[in-house]
Amino acid sequence: MRIISAKDYQDVSRKAANIIASQVILKPNCVLGLATGSSPVGTYQQLIAKYEAGELDFSQVRTVNLDEYVGLTADHDQSYAYFMRHNLFDHVNIDQANTNIPCGVEPDAEKECARYDAVIESMGGVDLQLLGLGPNGHIGFNEPCDEFVPGTHRVELTEATINANARFFESMDDVPRFAYTMGIRGIMQADKVLMVVNGANKAQAVKDCFFGSVTPQAPGSILQLHKNFTLVADEAALSLVKDLL
Ligand code: F6R
Repeated sequence: MRIISAKDYQDVSRKAANIIASQVILKPNCVLGLATGSSPVGTYQQLIAKYEAGELDFSQVRTVNLDEYVGLTADHDQSYAYFMRHNLFDHVNIDQANTNIPCGVEPDAEKECARYDAVIESMGGVDLQLLGLGPNGHIGFNEPCDEFVPGTHRVELTEATINANARFFESMDDVPRFAYTMGIRGIMQADKVLMVVNGANKAQAVKDCFFGSVTPQAPGSILQLHKNFTLVADEAALSLVKDLL
């Protein structure tokens, strides 16, 4: 585990984008595992800027996203499919046929999860997986629970996650209760994992996940066992562990 301390959100985003850019330069047809949420938005902006400056070519890049809300169509403005187009795909020269996100409106969970695991496998695995961290320590939508779930699965979101996501929806009732998420195996099998974390509201999760025991109650803690895991976090997110670095 490598921890890179950044000054603030901008600095987190710049450092993370440089790491992703080097992956794309070294392997132009790489598979990027991508995340949504507010944490990676700045990273995506930096990648777009590098593309616009002629420094990056996404034409051969393939992507696989972590998760999608159950019940939202790809056109819904809070779906993760919409988020990815809006925050990255529409602004770079990626072939959108090479981008993958679970289908939120497939009602047969078993079928959709098996399809998604097969997609990941058919791509030959993920070269670099980008992650955020939930305030409760979740990665993807692998919520705190009694055991790690390996494959893509349908998950009931915890109250904490529903509350954290409510800011993006008009009312509490509109916040989806279920999601499809890549499982712990999909994440752990990535060659490299890069996590971006900022803000004091993540400080406890950072401490629990990376300075405590490996436990499914703090799902991100499994990354302590990953062979090539890099955490890029700002000072606020590292505030509870600064004496341990
Ligand atoms: C998003 C995802 C989630 C988020 C996490 C942090 O695809 O899988 O695990 O990374 O909920 O969200 P933000 O960045 O909004 O604090």
